[in-house]
Amino acid sequence: MDLTQAKRILAEHGQMQLLDYYDRLTEEQRKSLLSDIAKIDFSVLGNLNSHSGRPLGELSPADALSVDEIAAGAEEYERAGLAAIRAGKVAAVLLAGGQGTRLGSSLPKGMFDIGLTRSLTIFEQQMNNIKQVTDKAGCLFDIFVMTSDINDAVTRAYFSDAGYFGYDPQRIHFYRQKLAPVCSPEGKIYLDEMHKVAMSPNGNGGWYSSLVEAGYAGLLESRGIEWLNVYAVDNVLQRICDPVFIGATLKSGCACSGKVVAKVSPEERVGVLCKEDGLPSIVEYYEMPAELAARRDPDGRLTFRYGVILNYLFSVGRLNEISGSRLPCHLAFKAVPHIENGVRVTPTEPCGYKFETLAVDIVRLMGSCLAFEVVREREFAPVKNRTGVDSVDSARELLRLNGVKL
Ligand code: UTP
Repeated sequence: MDLTQAKRILAEHGQMQLLDYYDRLTEEQRKSLLSDIAKIDFSVLGNLNSHSGRPLGELSPADALSVDEIAAGAEEYERAGLAAIRAGKVAAVLLAGGQGTRLGSSLPKGMFDIGLTRSLTIFEQQMNNIKQVTDKAGCLFDIFVMTSDINDAVTRAYFSDAGYFGYDPQRIHFYRQKLAPVCSPEGKIYLDEMHKVAMSPNGNGGWYSSLVEAGYAGLLESRGIEWLNVYAVDNVLQRICDPVFIGATLKSGCACSGKVVAKVSPEERVGVLCKEDGLPSIVEYYEMPAELAARRDPDGRLTFRYGVILNYLFSVGRLNEISGSRLPCHLAFKAVPHIENGVRVTPTEPCGYKFETLAVDIVRLMGSCLAFEVVREREFAPVKNRTGVDSVDSARELLRLNGVKL
């Protein structure tokens, strides 16, 4: 893109401020800025007035396969799950494209060292969890790793330097998600540097479309992969391609399934798996009406009690059927460093909107979903913050509880 084209496009979208410092830039920086401008998806800005997502439909609680029911059927489920893994029908998708701003590390979240007396990164811990399954199955499965432009190179380099944690590098496939512009409350896209448009990863909702755009549909087909186990990078107790989970999902006949834990309190910051207008749906904690979040059954348990832990199994066939559907866009209001009057500022208060689509919204489109209840202390140790709730400290405690040497 040249300067004339950039001016035309920016004028069309009311974003001329992105060229405010153009005259001060070196030739190299000008090229870089114009290339950034060429990549902007201006259409997301249209969501600014709709605020968070979509209007909620009628919510009702969902049933789940309980911990006890799972224990009773575990042998049968595990057999079916291991058979599916051995038949090559299952692959894993690691969502590692987030910025992990709350953790406050400049490195990808998966590279955070959670060890104390030895080095143990989140990526390594999750690969150790995978090894338990591949040892049992006696075979490997493919692992797709979604990164973003911001952390792709360093993530790939880290896996390579770490010898892919002993896994076959041919079975680990990296691909990038897209970025979206970050704008002010008035809808003006920020500059991150005078020569750099402020962009952030566009949420984890595009994990499948980006995987297909990266050219992996052929691999899924040629390998006969029918199920994708999508999981978040920030849970160090994440069980990946858990055979019991896979077997129970196959037996349920559902198009997808999600691991859930019983919420500890109405305020716990997890999305809730429930029904919306009769369809399976995940309602984020900030979208859930407080009255419903606090409602209790006669036995005292929360009525909307099943919190999701970002570990889902999706049928590839159904994902392809719904691939033309649009996901709602969620707005996140965050403290975003940007250029103001020629100076880079790092605000501590939210000042900019990020636009994200979310993987949770895919569940509704899938049409049917098995909620699979797991024991929180064994499978849910999220690392969102440095200290306090869902932090490095709490995750370390849970790892210790599960016998992991730190
Ligand atoms: P979070 O919603 O916790 O976001 O991601 P985050 O970016 O990691 O952290 P904060 O909010 O900035 O502190 C949940 C999972 O989704 C992935 C993350 O890497 C994590 O595994 N994710 C998130 C993506 O892959 N892409 C995104 O654009 C956002």
